[in-house]
Formats: sequence, structure tokens, C-alpha cells
Amino acid sequence: MEKVIVLGATGNIGTAVIKNLQNKNVLVFAGIRSEKKFSKVSELAATPILVDFANQESLNQALKGKDRVFLVTPLMQNPEAVTQMVINASKLNNVKHLVRSTASGADSKGKIQMARWAGASEDLVKASDLNYTIVRPYTFLQNFINFHSQTIKQYNGFYLPTGDAKLSMLDINDLGELVAIALTSNLHFGKTYELSGQTYTNEILAKTLSDVLGRKISYIDVEEEIARKSILDNQMPLWMIDAMMELYYITKQGWTAGYSDDFKNITGKEYTSAKTFFEQNISAF
Ligand SMILES: NC(=O)c1ccc[n+]([C@@H]2O[C@H](COP(=O)([O-])OP(=O)(O)OC[C@H]3O[C@@H](n4cnc5c(N)ncnc54)[C@H](OP(=O)(O)O)[C@@H]3O)[C@@H](O)[C@H]2O)c1
Repeated sequence: MEKVIVLGATGNIGTAVIKNLQNKNVLVFAGIRSEKKFSKVSELAATPILVDFANQESLNQALKGKDRVFLVTPLMQNPEAVTQMVINASKLNNVKHLVRSTASGADSKGKIQMARWAGASEDLVKASDLNYTIVRPYTFLQNFINFHSQTIKQYNGFYLPTGDAKLSMLDINDLGELVAIALTSNLHFGKTYELSGQTYTNEILAKTLSDVLGRKISYIDVEEEIARKSILDNQMPLWMIDAMMELYYITKQGWTAGYSDDFKNITGKEYTSAKTFFEQNISAF
């Protein structure tokens, strides 16, 4: 049986990948940075292994004997450094396949910082001589849980500086499903897949959420400076605020809207809709 290690295993994407690898006839390992978080995968059939993205030796050890590797990095500065260390460890251990999750719009010469960071990682993976698959998700529906559920519960609203632009919203579980397929096949070597989800506006998302919850939820289009101040008040580092504000800017221009049929072509399914996602996560709001 092949051995697959998921790096970033306790995060949004990593957890979805591990869930979708269950019953796939592979041995699953979860790269986790603290023993305190081992319990996060205890209900899943995954063996936890300590991994530190800042330590080459720890990655070399974690990848020993593994056939395939999945890598997602958190929102961080210069994720290409981690990507390079995972490539080094993959080569050292004769890993057969590396799957890297980046982001839609990834481009090392792109106009915004997040695109350049994601693109720099992709460039390294493509130049590595490893068999690779790249997956590029659009904006996550899970942001509603992670970033907006508090204000939705407290004020029946969510606040963003993104106007009335169209935007595409992806359920991370759809990404996990496609990644699990890629990680258990040789058919996806050398491929880059975009996962868009379906396209909405924030007004439509507010209306959909209202219908599901049975109470009125509003989208409040805030000014950029107010959004910046609010993230600043949440103690985020300056580089993160600047990167987020750039992302909001391109979202407001409608540049994060798009449609890719890669998910349908590979899974035979339609993307999970916002309505279904809200229904499945009703207790979060
Ligand atoms: N949010 C969106 O709408 C969106 C859309 C497209 C793309 N993206 C991209 O998706 C990525 C984030 O994915 P995500 O939401 O799954 O991230 P996440 O939930 O923040 O998870 C990050 C994972 O990396 C682990 N990690 C962090 N530092 C580590 C270290 N030093 N050593 C070992 N493991 C470490 C974390 O462990 P701990 O649990 O211990 O922290 C966690 O398992 C970002 O690159 C972002 O740009 C996001």
C-alpha cells in the first residue's frame, strides 16, 4: 500500500484532504507541528508525525519511506522557502509525487503579493524534476465560518470592502476530494488544476444565508480604510494586512470571479453550492 503524507494537516485544507483520503487504500500520515494537536487526527485513519516547516531535518525525517506528499502552507511570508525544503526532502527520499496547493491567480510576476508568493512556490515545484500536481483554489466558503461567523451571530451581518463584485466561492471539501484523487493516481502528473466553485456576489450570499438561517443577514460594504483599521485592531502583522488589502482590492474589481470545470472533469460532480454549504454548517452561524 502506498504511503501518503499530508503537510499542513491540522489546517482547513489539510483536514479536508485527510478526510477524503479515508477508504482510498493508502496509508495516510499527518504532518503536525505540535504533539498537542495530534488529537485533531485521532478520529481519522492517519498516523501523526511531528513536522516543522522551519527545519529541513524534520522534513527529511517525516518524508522517509513516503510515496506521495501533499503540501499546503499557511498564509505566511515567502512560502517558497518551505516549498524548497519539501522539494529537498522529497528528492532525498525518492518521493514519487508532490501535490502542492497554492491559490488562483498564482504568478511569480503577478501584481499582488499573494499571487507572487504562490507563483514562486509553483515555479520551484515545476522546476524540481519531481512528478507534481498543482491545485489552485479560489476564495473559500469556509471564510464565512472562520472570519464572519462572529459578526453574523452578533450583528446578523458580515463586513467586507469588496463592493458588489462577482466572486467565486469554493467549498474546501471539493478541493480535498480532487486532491485525494490526484494523490492516489499517476494520471495527474504535470497538471495544474483550478478550483473555482460557483460565482456569486456578496449580496446574493447574504440572501442565501438569510434563507437558510430564516433570519435577515446583511452584507455591509465597508470602506477600505475601515477594513484596514479593523484588521489592525485584530493584532495582525503589517505584511498580512497589506496582503489582505491587495486581495480585497482585486476582489472588488471582480478579478477573483471565474469558472473552471477541472473539478467536474475529474470528479464528475458539480461544485458544492453556497446554499448547500450553509445548510451543512448552519450551527456555525
Ligand atoms: N482563505 C481563502 O479564501 C484562500 C483561498 C485560496 C487560497 N488560500 C491559501 O490557502 C492557504 C492556507 O490554507 P489553510 O486555510 O488550510 O491554512 P491553515 O488552516 O492556516 O493551515 C495551515 C497548516 O500549516 C501548519 N503549519 C503552520 N506553520 C507550521 C510549521 N512551522 N510547521 C509545520 N506546520 C505548520 C498549521 O499547523 P497549526 O495547526 O499547528 O497552526 C496548519 O496545519 C494559504 O496559502 C492561502 O493563501 C486561501
